[in-house]
Amino acid sequence: MTDPALDAEALRERAVASLVTARDRTTLLTGCVDEPDLTAQHSPLMSPLVWDLAHIGNQEEQWLLRAVAGQEAIRPEIDSLYDAFEHPRAERPKLPLLPPDEARRYAADVRGRALDVLESTALHGTRLTEAGFAFGMIAQHEQQHDETMLITHQLRRGPQALTAPDPDPVPLFTGPAEVLVPGGPFTMGTSTEPWALDNERPAHRREVPPFHIDTIPVTNAAYQAFIEDGGYDDPRWWTAQGWAHVRRNSLTAPLFWRRDGRQWLRRRFGVTEVVPPDEPVLHVCWYEADAYARWAGRRLPTEAEWEKAARYDPAGDRSTRYPWGDADPGPEHANLGQRHLRPAPAGSYPAGESPLGVRQLIGDVWEWTASDFLPYPGFEAFPYKEYSEVFFGSAHKVLRGGSFAVDPVACRGTFRNWDLPIRRQIFSGFRTARSEDV
Ligand code: AVJ
Ligand code: FE
Repeated sequence: MTDPALDAEALRERAVASLVTARDRTTLLTGCVDEPDLTAQHSPLMSPLVWDLAHIGNQEEQWLLRAVAGQEAIRPEIDSLYDAFEHPRAERPKLPLLPPDEARRYAADVRGRALDVLESTALHGTRLTEAGFAFGMIAQHEQQHDETMLITHQLRRGPQALTAPDPDPVPLFTGPAEVLVPGGPFTMGTSTEPWALDNERPAHRREVPPFHIDTIPVTNAAYQAFIEDGGYDDPRWWTAQGWAHVRRNSLTAPLFWRRDGRQWLRRRFGVTEVVPPDEPVLHVCWYEADAYARWAGRRLPTEAEWEKAARYDPAGDRSTRYPWGDADPGPEHANLGQRHLRPAPAGSYPAGESPLGVRQLIGDVWEWTASDFLPYPGFEAFPYKEYSEVFFGSAHKVLRGGSFAVDPVACRGTFRNWDLPIRRQIFSGFRTARSEDV
């Protein structure tokens, strides 16, 4: 845009809309269950929903009211309760947390003041406010916790609390099983996306040898073939750690699956249903994804391969923001934002495919990659080390692409998620790859 004042107005409106969208989602996720349900811990892996709610407000207070606007703490005594590093999830229900009505009031109070700050802050001049970064960061943070809260809903026992329409059915995907991504350098990461988080930066060149990648995510039907072939009982397919993990925990199928005679059932947000064969597999850990790939004579893509498949446009010899180009995600591109409470059938969203024809890279399921979560060359922690830096190393594996549960504001071609290789309560699936024969 040529008029900087107009540009600033557009940014401000985008920041307001992103904050409002996130709060609407939070309100839905915390308003559809009763008070005991909000304060209960549904799984030791998760916080009580009421912790997420006040933590969302506290994070917003720390960054938008204190760091950006220099305001005093509203309730300094609660900071430590909502510090994720001081209290592991398992012990959060025992803390003297704000009760639901107080947590709601606190989050709403912070939000009212944050919108005033947004109104009166220049969106340039400091790194924190440049292009509205801090506001975008806080909208993303809330949406990340909205995905976390949806995971808590999935783990929760009891009757269904949430509903959403199913994705449109599509004919069974009959295109090519894999796509060849040509070798050569491409630009990975970003230095220009204004709301990209620290671990996505800076843009840098990466050499990627030629490889083939699945056109669609691995489906439930494909994964069932691995199960029926005795995949969980055969140590050949598993890394030593993976094998020890499946044995120790007697894993025989994805989380939430149950065998019923000759078919598989799954529990999804309080409802039991037959596992749909053509949907991307969901709730597998990295060890399971890695074992499946080996069984299939393939491997997981590296993170660089995944991003090249998602962003590299051979025609322009450049990296685009998303597989479909530079346009923000629309409902025709990808299954995002909890519009549906499940992945769409494999082969959906032809309008969202990459220039090379890879589908559903964005949305539906987070995709495990072969890679450890490591900083890019030139990485700088910003604005705090506890977002990314403290997690770098070989303990965490990278997931890419985003699930049906993540909002577009927290999902980009460059966005990096990470988790422990044993985790599978997250909305995780995968696709496989193989090196080009030489
Ligand atoms: C990026 C999804 C791994 O939920 O642990 C939320 C996001 N960081 N609050 C997480 C996050 C701080 C983070 N993940
Ligand atoms: Fe957080």
